[in-house]
Amino acid sequence: MPTPNDPETPVIEFVDVEKRFGDNIVLKDLNFSVRRGERVTLIGPSGSGKTTILRLVMTLEELTGGYIFVDGEPLTHREKDGKRVAVSPKEQKRLRTRIGMVFQQFNLFPNMTVLENIIEAPVHVLGQSKAEATAKAHSLLEQVGLPDKADQHPMSLSGGQQQRVAIARALAMDPEILLLDEVTSALDPEVVGDVLNILRKVADTTNVTMLIVTHEMSFARDVSHKVMMFDGGRVVEEGAPEKIFSAPTHERTRQFLSAVLRDA
Ligand SMILES: Nc1ncnc2c1ncn2[C@@H]1O[C@H](COP(=O)(O)OP(=O)(O)OP(=O)(O)O)[C@@H](O)[C@H]1O
Ligand SMILES: [Mg+2]
Repeated sequence: MPTPNDPETPVIEFVDVEKRFGDNIVLKDLNFSVRRGERVTLIGPSGSGKTTILRLVMTLEELTGGYIFVDGEPLTHREKDGKRVAVSPKEQKRLRTRIGMVFQQFNLFPNMTVLENIIEAPVHVLGQSKAEATAKAHSLLEQVGLPDKADQHPMSLSGGQQQRVAIARALAMDPEILLLDEVTSALDPEVVGDVLNILRKVADTTNVTMLIVTHEMSFARDVSHKVMMFDGGRVVEEGAPEKIFSAPTHERTRQFLSAVLRDA
């Protein structure tokens, strides 16, 4: 079992993870770990379990078997006297605040302004003062190229702008871990590049650990340290992006990549 506070301790570790929805076993005996500052891209066909993995880390799905550790601490369950015991809601919430997620469909709060969206969690979860959170929000809006949108509501923004706000909202929590689930899939092609460039800059200028699901293969190649190919809830192969994209070992990976590149 991993130990907290050791620099070698993975930031995320899956140990024998199982996820089932009813009788449908979506992930089985899944083991992998992500080091501090590592950026890992998950690829694989529709239904292979990529979103489920991110949602488990975000504690948006219930883990039905195994363990997930964040910085060596159990996220949902720990082993005690040979039994699998749930961690307290308080412990879970504490770990949860270190994790941010950006979704395909932005998921902004529609009844709040852009500024309110961004300061909500820093104020209510981290206990920052409104002034401090607001100052940081303005600087993040600057960073994502939307300095003049603070008082707008999400519905008055384009998809690309909404997604940039969603990125600012996630960064406002200073996450150690950033989960990105197909964040450009719902966008018009001409704004995809802007959003990816913002994320490239985050990757270049911070040490945030990233788990990325994307079909943007050149982005994945540029920013990831590692690519993991999934099929049927299992890792088919993993390796450096150069290796997976240029010389995949498995036929399943070759098929998948040629289908994705054909569609692109
Ligand atoms: N809430 C749910 N209830 C029941 N089954 C679910 C639920 N969420 C996901 N599943 C099932 O889990 C499997 C994995 O889904 P998941 O969304 O993780 O796949 P994915 O790899 O992200 O696919 P895509 O590329 O299409 O986004 C699928 O078979 C899906 O039907
Ligand atoms: Mg998905």
